[in-house]
Amino acid sequence: MNKLSKRLDSLIYFVEKEDSIVDVGCDHGYLSIFLKRNNLCKYIMASDINQNALQSAKANIKKSKLKIDTVLSDGLENIPLKGINALLISGMGTSTILHILEAKEKIKNIKKIILQSNNEHAKLRKSLNDLGYYLKEERVVLDKGKWYVSMLFIQSNKKNKEREILYGYLNNPAYNQVVLEQLKKIQKKIPFTSIKAKITAYRDYKKYKKALK
Ligand SMILES: C[S@@+](CC[C@H](N)C(=O)[O-])C[C@H]1O[C@@H](n2cnc3c(N)ncnc32)[C@H](O)[C@@H]1O
Repeated sequence: MNKLSKRLDSLIYFVEKEDSIVDVGCDHGYLSIFLKRNNLCKYIMASDINQNALQSAKANIKKSKLKIDTVLSDGLENIPLKGINALLISGMGTSTILHILEAKEKIKNIKKIILQSNNEHAKLRKSLNDLGYYLKEERVVLDKGKWYVSMLFIQSNKKNKEREILYGYLNNPAYNQVVLEQLKKIQKKIPFTSIKAKITAYRDYKKYKKALK
């Protein structure tokens, strides 16, 4: 495994040489292995809640002949965070990610959180602002016909603008167009008998279109 998928590669972009990271929900461990093999960060620990997933990560780590610490843990529960400045959580839904970040006391020294959720992006951005993290950057990539949004949050009391919370940084025109088309389709599909829902969907479409200008 010398090359990462475009989805995973978009996360690497946010990693810096001096970072000490926990890859929460590492599954196969590909991200952790790639980071370690290419010397892209100071330290990486791989963790997962699932015994089988962690076994698979351990087997891949062994094959890679690298030394990477692994921990079986629900979120941050069993993870020693001393010296850790960054979390990397990807390939999950927003509710699981927020469950992992619930441990407010534990994350107080975490300066940087890299996330890739497959749903409810606006809720995720808003919740991270509430937890004291500011959305600094986003990257949107198309991988095997599916769009993925990767986010970089940094610890800060600064809040994102409402438009950034709702739509992110709108920095991928092709993706923006796809979202716009989807919103248009949704409102067209709603029958006139559900007029309230139709008006709401139309407003969502118009609001997004305005945000793109
Ligand atoms: C779809 S995989 C994503 C793997 C990898 N992060 C990626 O992006 O390719 C999701 C992984 O998250 C793990 N997971 C789910 N809930 C978790 C939790 N509360 N704590 C730690 N890991 C969790 C699952 O066991 C699974 O291995």
